[in-house]
Amino acid sequence: MLGTFVYSNPTKLYFGEDSLKFLNDELPKYGKKVMLIYGGGSIKKIGLYDEIIKILKENDKEIIEDGGVMPNPTVEKLYEGCRIAKENNVDLILAVGGGSVCDYAKAVSASAYCEEDPWDKYFIRMEEVDNKIIPVGCVLTMVGTGSEMNGGSVITNTATKQKIGCGFDEKVFPKFSILNPIYTFSVPRYQMVAGFFDIMSHILEQYFSGDDDNTSDYIMEGLLRSLIHSSRIAVKNPKDYEARSNIMWTSTWALNTLVEKGKSEDWMVHMIGQAIGGYTDATHGMTLSAVSMPYYRYIMPYGLHKFKRYAINVWNVNPDGKTDEQIAKEGLNRMEEYMKEIGLVMNIKDLGVTEDMLEGIADNTFILTGGYKVLTREEIIEILKASM
Ligand code: NZQ
Ligand code: ZN
Repeated sequence: MLGTFVYSNPTKLYFGEDSLKFLNDELPKYGKKVMLIYGGGSIKKIGLYDEIIKILKENDKEIIEDGGVMPNPTVEKLYEGCRIAKENNVDLILAVGGGSVCDYAKAVSASAYCEEDPWDKYFIRMEEVDNKIIPVGCVLTMVGTGSEMNGGSVITNTATKQKIGCGFDEKVFPKFSILNPIYTFSVPRYQMVAGFFDIMSHILEQYFSGDDDNTSDYIMEGLLRSLIHSSRIAVKNPKDYEARSNIMWTSTWALNTLVEKGKSEDWMVHMIGQAIGGYTDATHGMTLSAVSMPYYRYIMPYGLHKFKRYAINVWNVNPDGKTDEQIAKEGLNRMEEYMKEIGLVMNIKDLGVTEDMLEGIADNTFILTGGYKVLTREEIIEILKASM
């Protein structure tokens, strides 16, 4: 049952090969000072940095740069960004990069004027933002997270080994995002396929939960089918525009608050994955792929009807003459084959996890209750062991 809800997503999207030109429509809406946030330099290599600087100058903007945002942005970096934003009294934050850059930009947006430690207030206590918010716009160069059209912001505290995702409300969503699939062509293969699995995982976290005869489930099956089809093409030819553009669009819809409607949502793969990230600084999508098969095989009996539906509707398993369990298992086997085929990391050892970390990772895993099975700490350790 869908229940009662409010649906509104304030982010305006500009999509396509020549979508950067729309930056000219957005910039006049904001004051003179633009804080340009980017990562480790990929935007300079692909020439996007120069294009952005040119457009900002043509629009008579004063540019305050904050580069060097690392994958899995840290809380120390967040404090630095807050200082830069506040000291310069910036009017707009322009994030140019992947999920890490967009997440960090939203964290700075909400935290710069926070009067106490934003890590405690927004990431540990997850309070609503009640201070001044700096508007954010994004130019996306890597797909997977959905950060371009949601309130998510994931920050890592290296001292405490905690990686925590905060879901800011609508006020912090990007005001606009520019999505040009061509920018994603240069993403290294490892990051590209990790992003593909991040998309798949976002959908599955919502699909395997709660009621399952609502529109959201049908939309998600469509998104999954499109993703599987296009990702197989993209791994063979990363410059296939049709495939990369479909994936970019699928990625946005996988996590922009639409398909969660009517669902209780699971998110345990992400909770375990984030705890692994806190210990290893591993690539987000790979932390998810490494634990997914042991996790789904473990919870399958608790949501058998849905795993059966997944096998038939997403993986084209022929149900004739088979038990529900056989069908469901066959679906998961096909998922595993696909994951290996596109080159995902399938165990946590390959991400640098060692036996002595398992207890700590389990302790840092938030246990959520929206899935088919509420896990205990011991079950998390079992799943981690099976992922080794
Ligand atoms: O830093 P640069 O030099 O830009 O290089 C990046 C980085 O090394 C590179 N890259 C990005 N675009 C490129 C490129 N290289 C060449 N050409 C391009 N066009 O790719 C590397 C990874 O980038 P990153 O932004 O870290 O990847 P992703 O988009 O996967 O973001 C991961 C972060 O997002 C969080 C993750 O936990 C992680 O911290 N998430 C955010 C979510 C949200 N906002 O809702 C949800 C997700 O579940 C996820 O947790
Ligand atoms: Zn994710």
